[in-house]
Amino acid sequence: MLVLGLETSCDETGVALYDSERGLLADALFSQIDLHRAYGGVVPELASRDHVKRMLPLIRQVLDEAGCVATDIDAIAYTAGPGLVGALLVGASCAQALAFAWDIPAIGVHHMEGHLLAPMLEPTPPAFPFVALLVSGGHTQLVRVDGIGQYQLLGESLDDAAGEAFDKTAKLMGLRYPGGPEIARLAERGIPGRFVFPRPMTDRPGLDFSFSGLKTFTLNTWQQCQDSGDDSEQSRCDVALAFQQAVVETLTIKCRRALKQTGLSNLVIAGGVSANRALRTSLEDMTAALKGNVFYARPAFCTDNGAMIAYAGCQRLLAGQHEELAITVQARWPMEQLPAL
Ligand code: KG4
Ligand code: ZN
Repeated sequence: MLVLGLETSCDETGVALYDSERGLLADALFSQIDLHRAYGGVVPELASRDHVKRMLPLIRQVLDEAGCVATDIDAIAYTAGPGLVGALLVGASCAQALAFAWDIPAIGVHHMEGHLLAPMLEPTPPAFPFVALLVSGGHTQLVRVDGIGQYQLLGESLDDAAGEAFDKTAKLMGLRYPGGPEIARLAERGIPGRFVFPRPMTDRPGLDFSFSGLKTFTLNTWQQCQDSGDDSEQSRCDVALAFQQAVVETLTIKCRRALKQTGLSNLVIAGGVSANRALRTSLEDMTAALKGNVFYARPAFCTDNGAMIAYAGCQRLLAGQHEELAITVQARWPMEQLPAL
């Protein structure tokens, strides 16, 4: 089955062609980062308008890359939520219009299920069951995964998502949007141990997270540096490193706890923050000590992309699921509401 996947939930237009027999045939992305950078974050209306502009050229591009024509496509998968409603509606309307015109089924995919399944596109995919740490700009969740659609939420952030904490902290320190890669870059040159930040909510039982206090702590530390006349590049790097280490260690402690609690040994990390190298290394060390493994997607498939939507949609379509001819999207959508395969 050849599936066209469309991702438009936020600031990236992602389009891909995934074949259930031959694997991923083509994948194209247009990132709107430069468009939103001037505003320090995503402007929803600008995002929607840009998705409209990029969608059809990207679809033509993946068809060319894969050496396919429109009539080869068996079904269309699109992100139906969670995300920005206007942006989601662009992908949903485009998918449903093409599905109607080409007389093929369409399926709305849950964006976080897309992220969660992205490591399945890699050469050594994880086997069920596993614990998943979903860390994106909008979500931080620990989930027990027994199969596609069999999700049990173990813990989540009570305030900012991990990616959001990176982005907001970076903004407070005068760094560019998106903040995650910027902080990671500065942290590489930071001096370990100069600053030590708290590991929020690790001193009490449970698997929930809270990152907003850490953001304030970082801001205060950076302001103290500035007030004492030490706003050098080195200090910025040291603060960035202390912040990243606090996030990474907090996530690692909670992942270890989740593995112990469930008795599982394999961990999947997905979403934009799973591209973070310090996080990957820390989780690799932790799972190795438990005789388990950690699985993640290549960096381009950690952040938003069409391939994960095409893959997730394909699995559900193969199980006989598809949408009615209606354009419905959801800004909020708990993943546990998804039907099991
Ligand atoms: O999954 P994603 O592309 O979009 C959402 O679904 O939200 O995640 C984007 C988030 C942003 O907050 C970005 O700063 C963060 O992922 N991110 C990173 C890194 N690369 C992207 N955070 C930390 N380290 C990175 N290398
Ligand atoms: Zn995402």
